[in-house]
Amino acid sequence: MAKILLTGATGYIGSHTWVALKAAGHDVVGVDNFSNSAPEVLNRLAALTGSAPTFENADICDAGALKRIFVRHGVDAVVHFAAFKAVGESAAKPLEYYRNNVGGLVAVCQAMQQHGCRHFVFSSSATVYGEPVFLPYTEAHPLSPMNVYGQTKLMGEQVLRDWAASDAAVRVAFLRYFNPVGAHESGQIGEDPRGVPNNLMPFVAQVAVGRRPHLSIFGNDYETPDGTGVRDYIHVMDLAEGHVAAVDALLGDAGTFTVNLGTGSGQSVLDVVKAYERASGRPIAYQFSPRRPGDLPAYWADASLAKQLLHWEARRGLDTICADSWRWQSLNPQGFEATPA
Ligand code: NAD
Ligand code: UD1
Repeated sequence: MAKILLTGATGYIGSHTWVALKAAGHDVVGVDNFSNSAPEVLNRLAALTGSAPTFENADICDAGALKRIFVRHGVDAVVHFAAFKAVGESAAKPLEYYRNNVGGLVAVCQAMQQHGCRHFVFSSSATVYGEPVFLPYTEAHPLSPMNVYGQTKLMGEQVLRDWAASDAAVRVAFLRYFNPVGAHESGQIGEDPRGVPNNLMPFVAQVAVGRRPHLSIFGNDYETPDGTGVRDYIHVMDLAEGHVAAVDALLGDAGTFTVNLGTGSGQSVLDVVKAYERASGRPIAYQFSPRRPGDLPAYWADASLAKQLLHWEARRGLDTICADSWRWQSLNPQGFEATPA
């Protein structure tokens, strides 16, 4: 059992990973500033894990706050989720994205260095690969992100590679996520975007629950089997369990490694719509719209390296993903904020 610091701990992936780490017997300290999450998540985590969460409300760009946290908790490894993640917003606010995603990362690494913590799990993204030169993407695919958000992830990887090169004790797990979707099977935690969802699954969920009249499908003329975009959708609990495997590998004798966390197969937008209709028992109204600028037609992961190195693979399919998403959405139609204090 190790003590793991989660930054961005009350966010979508952080909260699910918290549950998975606790289930695996680890001790967790969470940090978040609620810039994109709700304090109610902590109540849900208490109920799900059976113990009061150890939590610090702090900004990871604040070196003084980080120092206090490391002194107070004695951390063995950091799983770093805290970042901004909206692709469109990243073009409008690049400096905020570089400050939070790259500056915040450097601040966390410096605090770790000062306190003798050398195990780091990084939330990277398939977006670092950019235009596919070949598919599926392997970890050796060239890196060429197409937007500011993706650049911040690639820079984060570079910062960590340089730190690891300077200190043989530093070990980093670079985890490149494909499309995380779904929710914990309890329906108590899930994805709760602020405002209009940018991503497909939360938008579909809000159509199903009646918050939005219809889905716009961005493009039906791609060179894909049904003309709509294809992605590798991975259940967030599979992803969370991938983090547990990565932490255990780092704390064991694995050195620095880079792995895709995906399922290894792609699904179209229409596949997702049909699966959600089956799961919810409700029709999902949609209309075809022009392609979204910056979207790629299709990509999915070669997921074999994670299986080989971490003995981990995604277990939950699209029907489970949609059933769990629907349970979360129907139990919490307005998300966390609607919960009375
Ligand atoms: P999220 O926005 O739900 O969670 C991020 C959390 O970090 C939020 O709770 C936010 O309040 C917190 N945060 C942001 N800046 C902070 C700061 N300066 N100090 C303290 N807390 C801060 O996002 P998510 O979907 O859970 O993503 C987690 C990580 O995974 C991010 O690094 C993201 O870039 C990466 N990622 C996400 C996806 C995805 O599709 N969700 C895909 C690939 C990579
Ligand atoms: C987007 C980001 C990517 C990020 C990922 C996970 C862009 C260009 N890319 O990826 O960098 O890593 O989210 O957060 O924003 N779709 C619709 N209607 C919608 C929403 C989406 O048809 O309302 C389609 C898209 O065109 C795409 C698929 O659904 O084909 C998935 O979209 P989305 O969930 O936004 O993820 P990505 O585009 O893969």
